[in-house]
Amino acid sequence: MPQREPAGALTGPFAIPSLPIAVVKLGGSVLTRKRESEKLRPKVLARLAREVAEVRTHRIVLLHGAGGFGHPGAVRFGLSLPPNGSASPTERIRGAAIVSAEVRRLHLAVLRALVDAGARPWSVPMATHAEQEEGRLAHIDLDPIDRALAGGFVPVSFGDVVPDRVWGSSILSADTIAVELAERLRPDRVVFVSDVPGVYSPGAAGRRHVVRELTDEVYSALAPAPGAPDATGGIRGKVAAMRAIARRGVNAGLISGLSDGALSRALRDDGSTDGSWARAESSS
Ligand code: IPE
Repeated sequence: MPQREPAGALTGPFAIPSLPIAVVKLGGSVLTRKRESEKLRPKVLARLAREVAEVRTHRIVLLHGAGGFGHPGAVRFGLSLPPNGSASPTERIRGAAIVSAEVRRLHLAVLRALVDAGARPWSVPMATHAEQEEGRLAHIDLDPIDRALAGGFVPVSFGDVVPDRVWGSSILSADTIAVELAERLRPDRVVFVSDVPGVYSPGAAGRRHVVRELTDEVYSALAPAPGAPDATGGIRGKVAAMRAIARRGVNAGLISGLSDGALSRALRDDGSTDGSWARAESSS
């Protein structure tokens, strides 16, 4: 798969070596205690930031989720649903403002951890570069990501509350941004970092085991998670995004960020020592 060079890549002393691109999404479940409101896992964040800062084989585009900083408010104010549900229009707008502010607190913690680890993060908030229609992505401008890469930065974006043509505002998951980036940047892999070692075999009784290869059949067998505090579809939504990435000709893996070095391993060699992978399909 040919790599797309960032538009306007710098030349001369600022030329950035043309390494392959890897998109990494740090899930809200690993950065925060998702069922509790606004609880960061600072040690996990610091270690993952170090693993990102130490990568020498790839240019990294980093995404992160919202976890306990976004989902409780998104669910409470119904931001993934049409208006006219539980919240009044003014409550919904106020809720969107609150969730937007909270996810930015997490974003700042991620940026700080990356700077402390010696990386060069560059914030690209999609609320100002994307628009949705009835909760689905309608337009996204990824040029700011290209420009940050061309400047030698690690672009960092995140799941966010974004403008919605019909609902006023709605939730855009970083998983959806990852699918768009797979199409646009043609990375050699997309790695989803989570709090589980992979996707557990659907319906496996007794000892659960991780499914190594994520096929359409595995996706179909996954039941929607009941009662999960998640505005963006939980593990089933994640596997759907990974299958979509594989159909675009890019490998997509799900690994645990709680095990030391798993992210580094996922970015090394063929990267598939840990976790569950949706294998790149040849694209026409
Ligand atoms: C969710 O984004 C965004 C908000 C709820 C504001 P993600 O879907 O990427 O977040 P996680 O990884 O599930 O927490």
